[in-house]
Amino acid sequence: MSKKSPVSRSGRFTGGPAAEVAKFTESISFDWRLWKHDILGSLAHAAMLHKIGVLKKTELVAISKGLNQIHKEIAAGQFKWKAELEDVHMNIEAELTQRVPAGAKLHTARSRNDQVALDVRLWVRDEITALLGEIAGLQRALVSLGEKNADVIIPGYTHLQRAQPVYLAHHLLAYVEMLERDCERLWDCHSRVNVCPLGSGAIAGSTLPLKRELVAKLLGFVNASGQIQLTQNSMDAVSDRDFMIEFAAAAALLAVHISRLAEDVILWVSAEFNYIKIADAYTTGSSLMPQKKNPDIAELARGKTGRVFGNLISLLTLLKGLPMTYNRDLQEDKERLFDTADTVRATTRLMAAMLNNTRVNKAACAAAASDPALLATDLADYLVRKGMAFRPAHHVVGAVVALAEKTGKPLNQLTLAELQGVEPVTGTKYFGRDALGVFNLKTAMAKRNLTGAPGTKEVSKQLARWREQLS
Ligand code: ARG
Repeated sequence: MSKKSPVSRSGRFTGGPAAEVAKFTESISFDWRLWKHDILGSLAHAAMLHKIGVLKKTELVAISKGLNQIHKEIAAGQFKWKAELEDVHMNIEAELTQRVPAGAKLHTARSRNDQVALDVRLWVRDEITALLGEIAGLQRALVSLGEKNADVIIPGYTHLQRAQPVYLAHHLLAYVEMLERDCERLWDCHSRVNVCPLGSGAIAGSTLPLKRELVAKLLGFVNASGQIQLTQNSMDAVSDRDFMIEFAAAAALLAVHISRLAEDVILWVSAEFNYIKIADAYTTGSSLMPQKKNPDIAELARGKTGRVFGNLISLLTLLKGLPMTYNRDLQEDKERLFDTADTVRATTRLMAAMLNNTRVNKAACAAAASDPALLATDLADYLVRKGMAFRPAHHVVGAVVALAEKTGKPLNQLTLAELQGVEPVTGTKYFGRDALGVFNLKTAMAKRNLTGAPGTKEVSKQLARWREQLS
């Protein structure tokens, strides 16, 4: 039995919980991370309690001073967290009350149920802002790598088979687009996180005349048009964590995108591709094979995706069977939330740092992109321009490819007679002297100028757009 009964048990209980119960139920070992937001919430709540006459001016001043002092001590690592006080809320309140008698009034019309709902909303709100900054950093790293290698062409792949040529920048910008949608999702989620639950009490609000708007305003729960955002149902406010799940889901998609990027990086640094080289400081070695230089950042980025998915599923499962309203199960949300936020934030930052320290092997890219088979589709387009329907054109070029394979010649070395030899005998010859011109990579890239295509002009336009947007 702990000597001192925790704040939540005074009165009703004869003593503290059994030691193993305290150990099983405590959350201070992880929810201490909410301290800053817990104090912010208490400061706003106290200001409001003064406004409605619950706290005298002197009491408010004493409480605010006490909380600010505790803030300083926690920030300096001097605060002693006590497991017997269960969680961050009671640790801070108990310490305050020991120093400031008026602290005993702070919990007026407040429950840990609306307090924790507030704290996690404030925490997620800050986390989204920070994560958006990291994502922008990764986008900038991708754009920079594209800009530094604006003339580099590589094979684009489908089925991991060489398909058609693309600018490396086009490939990189594909990720910039994905990341932008991740930002939009996070920002959208932010609008539902940014709603103040304080004043919901344990489940049913309070009989005291709280000024919820004032608290919300002080804590910045205001939308883009300046309207104060308050939860509209106390039962919903203390029991749902959908905003957290939205964050976890947006983070999971972000992790998917980063994982795909990581996979590309891992392929590209392999000797088989050899498209890029990562600076030593951003790679690791092997304990056995002296020649090894491994892309561990990218591998871990890919690997960590699993726990981000797991956290999302955990949170969904945590919520699905809960009867209204608050249930202690909800305490299990925090470690999943923290782990998701920590994981995606670090992963995003490290991937950006790695890309900022990556060089492109232009010669290897040029060699791979010079494969004329990449332009077989352009040859079919050539026949379409000459009036052949696409299906037969596709068939004819297929036969051209087969002939090239049979004769052991690259596509662009076939003679005009050989090309014409595979055309169906219709009286019209579609292949002309200019046919082999399609294998000029430079001209081929200049032709791809549809919006969103990897053409020379289009890609530099997109690079410029992103540079501007991200600056
Ligand atoms: N540690 C709890 C949580 O994370 C705080 C709320 C506890 N409320 C209660 N009535 N026991 O959810």
